[in-house]
Amino acid sequence: MFITFEGIEGCGKSTQVRLLADFLKDGTATILVTREPGGTEIGGKIRSILLDSVNAKIDSLTELLLYEADRAQHVEEIIRPCLEAKKIVLCDRFSDATLCYQGYARGFDLELIERLHKIILKGLKPDMTFLLDCPVEIGLGRAWKRIALAAKNRKEDRFEREETGFHEKVRQGYLHLAKAEPARFHIIDASQDIPAIHHDIASIVSSRLKSRNARTH
Ligand SMILES: Nc1ncnc2c1ncn2[C@@H]1O[C@H](COP(=O)(O)OP(=O)(O)O)[C@@H](O)[C@H]1O
Ligand SMILES: [Mg+2]
Repeated sequence: MFITFEGIEGCGKSTQVRLLADFLKDGTATILVTREPGGTEIGGKIRSILLDSVNAKIDSLTELLLYEADRAQHVEEIIRPCLEAKKIVLCDRFSDATLCYQGYARGFDLELIERLHKIILKGLKPDMTFLLDCPVEIGLGRAWKRIALAAKNRKEDRFEREETGFHEKVRQGYLHLAKAEPARFHIIDASQDIPAIHHDIASIVSSRLKSRNARTH
């Protein structure tokens, strides 16, 4: 089972990945928690290039290819082996993020990104994707608070520095993708408080796991 978490900066992805992992660990399933960019050692180096605002001058094609390079390594080194070992993989951002940020927001041809994904993913697709949807001002407000609290030497704020219109395009892109694939996407109201969001996600995952177990037994 491959579950991904998507949405704008500060919508609560990382918080909810942690809570769902704890919730599932109460059962018997083996959970792997990972993220993009930076799910591997090589990816960690790519992440620091991508998210540090000292790299504001990064070319947008360079940015796209670095995200895909990170993903290629991540899929082969971590995600595919874990899924083959029957683990539940929880991933904080995945391929939909590239479609939204580099496609809908930066303006790259969506077909080009889809072509890259065909090569990199070789048919791999999340079983479920939670889109944590909230207004841009709410997400960015939370994200800036988090950045202010983080250690000064961990600057991961290049995207937060983009203008509101950019984040609005990302949000609309995600809603568009969710509409196109209603069976995979679950749109969650991320303006709720943390426990309410967790409750929504945990109940959807629980019922999915139950129906899957019923089919296999
Ligand atoms: N539903 C929520 N309501 C209020 N604050 C939240 C909520 N979810 C997360 N936060 C806080 O907002 C900040 C950003 O959350 P985070 O999970 O890091 O978002 P993301 O990974 O989507 O950028 C964190 O400081 C977190 O504690
Ligand atoms: Mg996060």
